[in-house]
Amino acid sequence: MDIYLIERLGHMGDGIARGPVFAPLTLPGEEVTGRLEGDRLLDVKIVTPAPERVAAPCRHFRTCGGCALQHAAPGFIESWKAGVVRQALAAQGVAAEIAAVHTSPERSRRRATLSARRTKKGALAGFHARGSDVVVEIPDCHLLAPELMAALPIAEALAVAAGSRKGELSVQATLSQGGLDIAVTGGKPMDGPLQVELAQQAERLGLARLSWDGEVVAMRHAPEQMFGRAKVTPPPGAFLQATADGEARLLAEVSTLMRGKSRILDLFAGCGTFSLPLAETAEVHAVEGEAEMVQALERGWRNAPGLKRVTTEARDLFRRPVLAEELSRYDGVVIDPPRAGASAQVAELAKARVPVIAHVSCNPVTFARDAAVLVAAGYVMGPVTVVDQFRWSPHVELVAGFSLTSA
Ligand SMILES: C[S@@+](CC[C@H](N)C(=O)[O-])C[C@H]1O[C@@H](n2cnc3c(N)ncnc32)[C@H](O)[C@@H]1O
Repeated sequence: MDIYLIERLGHMGDGIARGPVFAPLTLPGEEVTGRLEGDRLLDVKIVTPAPERVAAPCRHFRTCGGCALQHAAPGFIESWKAGVVRQALAAQGVAAEIAAVHTSPERSRRRATLSARRTKKGALAGFHARGSDVVVEIPDCHLLAPELMAALPIAEALAVAAGSRKGELSVQATLSQGGLDIAVTGGKPMDGPLQVELAQQAERLGLARLSWDGEVVAMRHAPEQMFGRAKVTPPPGAFLQATADGEARLLAEVSTLMRGKSRILDLFAGCGTFSLPLAETAEVHAVEGEAEMVQALERGWRNAPGLKRVTTEARDLFRRPVLAEELSRYDGVVIDPPRAGASAQVAELAKARVPVIAHVSCNPVTFARDAAVLVAAGYVMGPVTVVDQFRWSPHVELVAGFSLTSA
């Protein structure tokens, strides 16, 4: 049988040997055998393990696809994620100092999207198995916060009540001040009787809010999130940082970069994760594409006395970026785009002379592309902090500051 030497990890966390041949759950330096199917090695056996190999802490790891890297020591994962950022920047000709890698603790995810299916006996809920759409139960999951584990039986109850025979429910569960905030897609289409049934289920299951295909069917308690001292009720399914710990670390970095600034522009502001805490000390203009998120942010600010002025704007920043002339009103800019990055907006930031930019990103490749544009325009990139909210997954998030040398 051929022996393959794993040379590196790919962006999905699979080991890659020369070929390329992709071998899941392997680590660089390992010699492995297996059955080659296309470019994938199946039934992988480890011949020579890497020193960084560890026993997976979670008993579901072999089957569950929720984690990709539990077989690697935490220190290895941290340096691999730092390396992903360094390489993405190097490919754009930008040298990077990685200040720190901050990994959220086990069992700290406050949001997860579960899959739930009806079965002959009832229903089951969990994550998809690795590389398949089979649902795996995860009663001992090491990712979810203990309070979020309550969403598993809830997802099953909803699948029994309103899942279709063949399909699968996608159940996004979020911890909120008011209890569990549940947003479901993929269930039976809404009609009068189903609405009554779901409202009863929300009551019986003690949910803060239940939404079905984006429509709120029951709201027993406001599913509020605290952003600084402001309480915000996000629209169903709206973006939220995955762990409170990761959010706190991102906010700490952003706040440090914005220290002493009095007019801050928050781009891709979401429901106010950064805008509202920054409004303790600065006036903030928050720009976000989703009008309902903007309204939620605005309401949160109005109900939180003592904050400085926050103004809001619903605007598509891909099509209508804030122009260089408008940017000159601000002494600090926070930008936190989706995975696609923010080419159009960064082109305007490059033309403008904003003293400090805090750039948060969930995609090192688009971040590096944006960083290269800013650096070419004369901004200096500070140290990059990697914030790992998606522990044991190949996702990489980061925050870095850009300043003008003359500022
Ligand atoms: C990574 S999230 C960050 C949100 C917020 N900064 C936070 O930390 O909660 C990116 C945000 O960009 C918004 N967005 C996506 N595409 C957009 C666009 N073309 N224009 C403006 N906002 C957009 C999303 O709705 C989302 O709220």
